[in-house]
Amino acid sequence: MGNRLQFSAMNARLLITGGAGFLGTHLLQQAHSFTATGTLHRTAATSIPDVAFHVCDLEQTQEVKILLDRVRPEIIIHTAGSDQGGNFSAISRVAGLLAMQSAERYIRFIHLSTDQVFDGTAAPYLETSTPRPINPYGTAKAQSENLVHSLNPQALIVRTSLLYDLRSPDRQTSQLIHATTTGVPYRLFTDEFRCPIWVENLAEALLELAETNYAGILNLGGPQPFNRWEWGLQMLQHFGIPLTPNIQPGTIEESALIRPKNLTLDSTSTQQLIHTPLLSFTESCKKIE
Ligand SMILES: NC(=O)c1ccc[n+]([C@@H]2O[C@H](COP(=O)([O-])OP(=O)(O)OC[C@H]3O[C@@H](n4cnc5c(N)ncnc54)[C@H](OP(=O)(O)O)[C@@H]3O)[C@@H](O)[C@H]2O)c1
Repeated sequence: MGNRLQFSAMNARLLITGGAGFLGTHLLQQAHSFTATGTLHRTAATSIPDVAFHVCDLEQTQEVKILLDRVRPEIIIHTAGSDQGGNFSAISRVAGLLAMQSAERYIRFIHLSTDQVFDGTAAPYLETSTPRPINPYGTAKAQSENLVHSLNPQALIVRTSLLYDLRSPDRQTSQLIHATTTGVPYRLFTDEFRCPIWVENLAEALLELAETNYAGILNLGGPQPFNRWEWGLQMLQHFGIPLTPNIQPGTIEESALIRPKNLTLDSTSTQQLIHTPLLSFTESCKKIE
């Protein structure tokens, strides 16, 4: 672990990969004290005041080098590499490329990882817990963590959990809301636990960490575990959508799916390091009142 505040963030050049993604957009919207740039791939960005965007396929080494030469970032927060798109083999290649380039160029590198690197049988998970992924996405993210750590030991790897939004429905909540209109059977697991974190809260914490030189692994999830059934009901209630009979509780056990069950992350160490409070669902709701 490193120390706080190695350099002032005021106007520091910050590059966010996945600049049109869910977390990337929020990071760029909140990065007021940085000179912020986001990468774009296939999706067009919403315009954000004072933010520049560069189109770059992060799988292409030459494009990445040109991007870094042009932007000359002092800090990179690497959010691209989610479970969307299905190209899991690219996730670790891109993470490795960025880790190596940032090490060579002395750029602070923050890599986003996931609770899905665990198998869900030994919660709560600490930063020291050993990854044991059981699905292709978790495997790709665990490989990425290893590459990032070995190619750039000064990097910070942040493991987070389910990201949610309160102002408009996030991806998973949108699917659930859509299910209330279709009548198609939809199961929410009572035996799958996550520590959801409000995307704006995560962005604030990451931007605080960007100003430090903490290295290694940090957990950054919400303070309260929820099972997916409880969570789904809560999000429907938040957006004023009535529960419909086709949405029912179920278990991973009775489904044919291979999913980690209990991915509770213990983010106590991170909370002790940063000023940004990790907010519960109720505390997050109060922020938007
Ligand atoms: N969302 C969650 O609940 C959650 C939970 C745990 C961890 N995480 C982690 O948090 C991070 C952010 O997740 P998110 O939900 O914000 O992701 P997201 O919305 O799916 O955004 C991912 C972004 O990466 C971009 N991207 C993909 N391939 C690319 C490439 N070859 N070159 C350049 N850009 C590329 C995508 O651009 P295009 O769409 O234009 O291709 C997209 O903008 C990820 O690392 C994820 O593993 C997320």
